[in-house]
Parts: sequence; C-alpha cells; structure tokens
Amino acid sequence: MKKYDFDQVISRKNTDSVKWSRYPDEVLPLWVADMDFPSPPEVAAAIQERLDHPFFGYAGDDKPLIETICEWVYRHHGWKIQPEWVLLMSGVVTGMNWVAQSFLHPGDSLCFHTPVYPPFFHISEYVGVSRIEIPMVVQDNQYQIDFEKFEKTLNSSTKLFVLCNPHNPVGRVFTKPELECINTICLKHNVMICSDEIHCELIFSGHSHIPLASISEEAAQNSITLMAPSKTFNIPGLHFSFAVVPNQKHREQMEKSRRGVIGCPSMLANEAARAVYTHSENWLEQLLNYLEGNRDYLMDYLKTHLPEIKVIKPEGSYLAWLDCRELNMQSDPYNFFLYKAKVALNDGRSFGENGSGFVRLNFGCPRSILTDALVRMASAVRSG
Ligand SMILES: Cc1ncc(COP(=O)(O)O)c(C=O)c1O
Repeated sequence: MKKYDFDQVISRKNTDSVKWSRYPDEVLPLWVADMDFPSPPEVAAAIQERLDHPFFGYAGDDKPLIETICEWVYRHHGWKIQPEWVLLMSGVVTGMNWVAQSFLHPGDSLCFHTPVYPPFFHISEYVGVSRIEIPMVVQDNQYQIDFEKFEKTLNSSTKLFVLCNPHNPVGRVFTKPELECINTICLKHNVMICSDEIHCELIFSGHSHIPLASISEEAAQNSITLMAPSKTFNIPGLHFSFAVVPNQKHREQMEKSRRGVIGCPSMLANEAARAVYTHSENWLEQLLNYLEGNRDYLMDYLKTHLPEIKVIKPEGSYLAWLDCRELNMQSDPYNFFLYKAKVALNDGRSFGENGSGFVRLNFGCPRSILTDALVRMASAVRSG
C-alpha cells in the first residue's frame, strides 16, 4: 500500500493561493478551509492525461462520471441515489444560493443555526428574503441544536432551512436522532431543507456521516443535498460539486432557474472528480488518520499550554472552534493572534453574533506548521 507523507511542507507561495497570499510573509495562515497537503497524485495525473489531447471544446453530459458519483455516495454513505437526481455545479456556495433562488419569494424567510460558515448569512441578502438565525447551545460539553427553540422560531413565512452537516465551524457530525428531529420539525412546518454536506467524508473515529436525505423517503423528497470532493481531496480551486435532488418537481424548478446562470464544472474538474472518486480511497484513509492525529495534538497542546482557550473536540472536518473568552483580551482574539502571534485564523464574529470571542483554526496542515502556530500563540498569550 502506498504511503503518503502528510508531514512534508511544500511552499505554496506564488501559486495564486488565497490562503498564502492574503497576509504578509511572516504570518502563518491557518484560516480558510483549504489544507496544506497536495491533493492525491491521481488528480494531477488525470488532468495531465486529459491535457495530452489538445481539444477543449464543450463537454457533453458526463454520464459515466455521474454513475461514479452514485457509487461513491453509496459506498461511503450507504445512500442509494439515482443518476438523474445529480445536478453538477461549480461550487457548494453556488448551490445554496441556487436552491434559495429557485424556491424562495419576496416575503419568505430562511433559517439556519449559528455559529455557521459565513456565506450562509449572505443568501437572504442575495435572494431578497429575511433570515432567522437560531443559536446552537452547548450542553454536555457539545454543541447541540435547541429543538424547542428551533420549532418555536419557525413561522409561516419560513420556507427554507439550511443545514451544515458536518458542521463548520463547531465540528459536529449530527446523529440520526438529531437528523430525525430536524426532519420532523421541517416537515411539520412545510420548510424545505438544503443540506450542505461538503465535509461529509472528513469524519473521525466513533462518528459516521448520515446524509439527512437518506433517513426516510419523506426526508429525501423534502431536501436538497450539496456535496463535493473539494474539501475531502483538497481541490476547491477546481470547482466541482453537485446537488442531489430526489424530488422531480424540485429538479425541474432548479433546472429552470439555472438557465443562463449556473454553469457546470469544467472538463478538467470532471477528470479530477472521476480520479479521486475512483482511485483515492487509500489517500483519504491516511489523510483521516493524520487529521485525527492533528486534532488530538491540538487538543492536548491547548490543554497543557493554553488552558484558557476552550475547544470542544471536533467530530469531523479539520476546523477547530476556539473559545478565547477566558483570555479576557483587550482586543478581539483574531486581531490579537494576527498582530501578536503572526498567526492568521478566522474571526469568530463572521460566523454569527455568538462567534464573538472565538476564532476558527484550520488544522489541515503538516504537524510542524500546526506546532509553529500553537507555539506562537502560546508565547503571545504569555507575553500579553
Ligand atoms: C460548510 C461549507 N460549505 C461550502 C463551502 C465552500 O464550498 P465551495 O467552495 O464549493 O463553494 C465550505 C468551504 O469552506 C464550507 O465549509
């Protein structure tokens, strides 16, 4: 079995990487959800092979690729999907806005739980509807959905619930009973679900990802699932993702609203997706081991050297949601760590009002980079 070296540090400077170009050179970037590991070698090989044929005309329907996606989703998530349910698109953020554009009208509202991935907040603004933010609660040392509040908050104008599962930034992988509660509440109130499951293969031991739509036929008919190989295999710049839409009327509506607006991935992105979904299982297995090691290392480091920073163990993804409120900082933690530690994290305030006092750290990097960042952060805190 081929062994991959996730410890290897490869410079990404001058590669048009947003992660590595936003801040000055002395700043270590652990912010945007983009890992510092090369994608599986099959990606470059597949693209290279395609480049050997110098024709790049319009692509047709890539039926074999859609079959490959269906097989992947069944193999990894136990969810049997039909090829006609799969709509290809260039990004999951595009997908959530496409869903909102397709089904919401002026006067409607959409809702989601906070803190959450910042683009969730923009959907309502782009579509011209109102937005209901429902804060999650911490119970039994874990982020939970407050189901009573969820149900009470929905009103007759609420037409769409946007779920983030696995959850960015808190790292929850929702359980079947939780998904069943979400589904029951949404069905009862005629609220459609858009389930962003982009992190669905990045799951740590003891947990498993369940697509919300797979829990029942009613759930499938009332939801649209957004998935992609982009986080799993670190290829977000190639722009390949897909929506799974089991409900025929929903599909027709989305096909109608895509016209002239929502494009498909490029043929090179198709090659990359086909390659990872066919050949990169072994890479993924080793990546998950490495990420889990990084997560545990991070938890231990914080407990020993920065005990004022609290973090609830992520169950999936490579993001840690750091609660810095006990540091009682003069400034916010994002600016403190950026200017005093030269470490760029994500500002918790962009994930919702309840993100104040938090930062998000991306531990999808070689351990030496993670260690460097943590040492810088601990020494900045000690020196005030
Ligand atoms: C929950 C979630 N959804 C969507 C995205 C972005 O997806 P895309 O790049 O396909 O638009 C991210 C990226 O970090 C994410 O964390």
